[in-house]
Order: sequence, then structure tokens, then C-alpha cells
Amino acid sequence: MSRPLRVLLGVSGGIAAYKSAELVRRLRARGHEVRCALTRSAVAFVAPLTLEVLSGRPVDQEEYLVPGVAHGPEIEEAHIAAAAWAEVLCVAPATAHVLARLALGLADDFLTTTALAFTGPVVVAPAMHSAMWEKPATQQHAGTLKGRGVWFAGPVEGPLASGEVGMGRMAEPETIVAAVEAAAGSGPLAGRTVLVTAGPTHEPLDPVRFLGNRSSGRMGFALAAEAARRGARVVLIAGPVALATPSGVTRIDVVTAREMERAVHEHAPAADLVVMAAAVADFRPRRVAAGKIKKEEGLPPADIEMEENPDILAGLRAVAPRAVLVGFAAETEDLDRHARAKLERKDADFLVANDVSRRDIAFESGDNEVTVFRRQGEPVFFSRRPKPELAASLFDLFTATLSDRADRETSPAAGPR
Ligand code: C5P
Repeated sequence: MSRPLRVLLGVSGGIAAYKSAELVRRLRARGHEVRCALTRSAVAFVAPLTLEVLSGRPVDQEEYLVPGVAHGPEIEEAHIAAAAWAEVLCVAPATAHVLARLALGLADDFLTTTALAFTGPVVVAPAMHSAMWEKPATQQHAGTLKGRGVWFAGPVEGPLASGEVGMGRMAEPETIVAAVEAAAGSGPLAGRTVLVTAGPTHEPLDPVRFLGNRSSGRMGFALAAEAARRGARVVLIAGPVALATPSGVTRIDVVTAREMERAVHEHAPAADLVVMAAAVADFRPRRVAAGKIKKEEGLPPADIEMEENPDILAGLRAVAPRAVLVGFAAETEDLDRHARAKLERKDADFLVANDVSRRDIAFESGDNEVTVFRRQGEPVFFSRRPKPELAASLFDLFTATLSDRADRETSPAAGPR
């Protein structure tokens, strides 16, 4: 059961607004306080009085600074006060218009000014016709919001108001309530910050070519999603991959190993756990040609001079002395020996090793099978399973070490590690 939360529920003008009454009822039934803020068009779909009675609080629906209307200072500050009051902002239904306004930071009514002033977790439950949801503009706005760590509950497929069946239906109130509680960080990793790297890096040769690897990023994305589900604040540093940002995860896109190192160094000092699932290129071309290298100029690959990339993980202990550090190793032979050596050399707490000579699992597969080497205790073998499931098993291991470290830090006899 989640702790009681103060939820600011933004309702925008879609037909699904009628379900917001049920959402308020369910939030209240779970012990949460609810305050509703309606956009002007929402009022056409749901009566403010209904939400007022169900929430037990006055509903905010006034336009912010209507031209020609005199406002006192108390009204001008109302959105700041509402943002300070709320622990979670949930917008359900979120129309295409409100998603666009949130993504662009537009602030032209009570709900959007409050959203802009609000610094806590945000959940949106989009609801619209599938044609509107699938439009590149809406998808881009949704992508922007996801990248900023906004939680998405739905939309789901089903009957739409138009009578058609398609993607765009608002998630059911119980799903939205679960997202609100997860976003508020009521899980076992609440209050923790987890940094995850994922995917390959691309090391440019010229403006159109690069050296890369076959990492799909799926393992790292599954780990980031799992950390968010457990209530952590999650920063995901992703190499070039074609994957959607998991709900509640703040994503930073990078291309090269050096860009990844900069991003990791910026975020690792605040992290309690760093999971380096990215397949970072060990070497990069020493020179990047300014123009496309032409066949006629003759440059056989053997002539590409390489230099070493920084080993991000090996340098992390100095940057994040408190954090639990997890490395990944993809090996094609002698997994045991290489993995143990890497655990030592990189001064990691865990080294998750997988055998990439196995074509049926690892890189591009949805499944993985790994052995986890650790500082204390015997290695742990996880047989083949889907990557999200494996992510959950791995987090069970990491979480235990995190708790041990926190206990030691708070006890007077705490050692350095
Ligand atoms: O040495 P190897 O590349 O096998 O080590 C893999 C682990 O080290 C992974 O966790 C990977 O993210 C990390 N790594 C790194 N910087 C590099 C190479 C690997 O942080 N330049």
C-alpha cells in the first residue's frame, strides 16, 4: 500500500474526462488527497461540482490572468501554491493539446502554469483519437515528455469515442492510480538515484561512417524500467538505439564513448547505484575525416589509426565513491576468468557476464542468460529468461547490497565501503 499522497489531478477536455470522477474516487479510496484543476474545455465534459464533491476540495478552473480582469496577488500566486502543495501531478485525460503545451512549456492557464512551476513527478494519461495519437507532432511531444521522466499511463487500444477501435483510449483509472503511486516513489528504491547506461557507442570515421557494435540497448532499458518501477529516480544514458524511453526515466542521448563519459561523470556523483550496461567502444579512430572518405582516395581499413577510449567504469570509483557499481561483460570465451579479472580491474561491486558466442541469446535477442560475479559471495547464475524478467532478478541482488551499504553508512562504525 502506498503512503498517502497529495495528488493534483489535471483534467483536460476530452470525452474521457467523464472517467476522471471515477479516478478521483479511487485515489481517495487509496487514502490520497486530491485537488482537481480543469482546463476550460474540460468543463464541457465533466461538471466541476462532481469533482468538487468527490475530491472534497474546491476545483481550480479559472483562466490564469484573463486579459482585462483585475487579479489580486493571491490569484497570481495560486499556481505556485498548488505546485508546492502537490506531491504528484497527474493529467488524466491528457489531450493532444495539453501534451503539446506540457512538452513546449507553454503556460496559459491554471493547469499549465502549475505544471511549469511543479518540480515533482508527473503522470499523464493520454486520450485521443488514434489518428491524433499517431501524428508525428504528438509522438514527438510524447517522446520529449518521456525523455524528461514523465510517466505515461496508456493510452491503450480499444473502442474510441468515434465508434472506431484503435490506439488512443485512456488507460483505466486503476492503471492510472498505480502509475501515480509508482511515480511518487513508494517502492523499495524510493529516494534512491539509479544511473544506467545502455546501448552501443558510435565512433565516427567521417560524417557518414562510424565504428559501432551490435548492442541493442534492450538489457539496459529493461534495467532502467525496473529501477523506475521500484521507485528510484532513474537517469538513463543511452547510446544510439531505437527504443522508447521507459516510463518515469530521464533519458540523455549520447553518441560517442567520450560523450557518454561526460554524461556519466555529471550524474554519477548523485547516484546510489550505477549500472554500466552500455557496450562502450574501447577504441576510436584517431582522426575523423571532415568530408566523406572516398573510395578513389584508397583507404583500406588497416590504415585507420585508432586510439583508446576512456574506460568509464574503471574510473568511476573516484567519481562516485558511495555508489554501488555494476559492470557488464560480453565474452566469447573463458567467461569466468575474464569476468573475475574485470571485476577486480574495474573495481566494480558486481560484474554481469554473458556469453555472446551464444547466437540464441545476448545482443539482439529479447532473452539473456548471465552469471553475476560479485565482491562478496559466490557467482550467481541466472538461466535464460526475457530481459525484463532478468532485470528484476538482477535488481533483487543489487538492492540487497544497496541496503547493506546504507545501513553501514548510517552506523557509527561505518567503514569506507
Ligand atoms: O572491458 P569491457 O569492455 O569488456 O568491460 C565492459 C564493462 O565496462 C561494461 O560495464 C562497460 O559499460 C564498461 N566500459 C566502460 N568504458 C569502456 C569500455 C567498457 O565503462 N571504455
